[in-house]
Amino acid sequence: MLRIGMLTSGGDCQALNAAMRGVVKGICSKRDDVEIYGFQEGYKGLIYSNFKMLTSKDFSGILTVGGTILGTSRQPFKMMRVPDENGLDKVEAMKHTYHKLNLDCLVVLGGNGTHKTANMLREEGLNVLTLPKTIDNDLWGTDMTFGFQSAVDVATDVIDRIHTTANSHNRVFIVEIMGHKVGWVALHAGIAGGADIVLLPEIPYDMDVIVNAINRRKAAGKRFTIIAVAEGAISKEDAKLSKKELKAKQEKKKYPSVAYEMAEKVQKRTPDQEVRIAVPGHTQRGGSPCAYDRVLSTRLGAAAAEAILDGDFGHMMGVKNGKIVRVPLSEVAGKLKYVDPNSEIIKEAKITGISFGDE
Ligand code: F6P
Repeated sequence: MLRIGMLTSGGDCQALNAAMRGVVKGICSKRDDVEIYGFQEGYKGLIYSNFKMLTSKDFSGILTVGGTILGTSRQPFKMMRVPDENGLDKVEAMKHTYHKLNLDCLVVLGGNGTHKTANMLREEGLNVLTLPKTIDNDLWGTDMTFGFQSAVDVATDVIDRIHTTANSHNRVFIVEIMGHKVGWVALHAGIAGGADIVLLPEIPYDMDVIVNAINRRKAAGKRFTIIAVAEGAISKEDAKLSKKELKAKQEKKKYPSVAYEMAEKVQKRTPDQEVRIAVPGHTQRGGSPCAYDRVLSTRLGAAAAEAILDGDFGHMMGVKNGKIVRVPLSEVAGKLKYVDPNSEIIKEAKITGISFGDE
């Protein structure tokens, strides 16, 4: 008997179900003595032994379905070693559930925080395999995470639609794109949607540069400007502050999100042009996965199935130069993959006239 535990953890994204389907189809095509334990709502299910027994049938018809059939939750890594309100040791509880059920391995689908906990469970002696999910595409060790392309498609569609209304009304539009720490979605959707200014956490901006870019468009007879701003975009001035100083500054004047702050700053400097915002928010994580993500997640799921059948654990399935690879969890955990401000894609975007607000 092969006993597999499975959980999805952290923020959801498109293609989580598609990836789990890939794993289960891959295993069940080779073995019929398989038990699947689906832990509910991420690591919470493993801690409190809350699971559903699933069969291959449960994974049929979910390739195109967004969200996760297991549910998910955020269980911060830094809280994992802190006992719960009843004094329960969460790490020991997870190990206990794993051993009590006599699991052969645990398949974990998640992003950065999830990978830190997955690596800790590996260090604690559990057989763990992971799959890289996140719309943010910021997992180290893989060129691409599933969810990313689907989110880019949604955000691109938003920017596309804003064009016509911005043009009709002669407005500056600020479209807020998900990404607190990294700007991959804003970068790709900004280019794909033809945004004029793209602001990323990795490239601190200067308001003078942004205002000049808007004024240059006006002088060229353009009726509108679209700014794609990542949630974590930061000014050059603020980037120089310590974490503590920045927090204190943000507490003095609270904005619902970065788009509101940017709108206020831009409106002050462009009084003759109305500024509006659009915040697609969680629509970027919702709905069906795009075709690219269906393919990627199915490939990664199949690769995880192969690794399980090989008995080769302690890895994240990643993609490198088009090939699926097994990346040691010890190398992945705790590292972020940032947009490199000197990368080719940034240079090429600049050549086409996109301003990143930096120069
Ligand atoms: O980690 C993915 C992400 O979508 C970020 O880009 C975004 O800032 C965050 O999750 C939102 O998380 P929540 O679902 O907790 O609001």
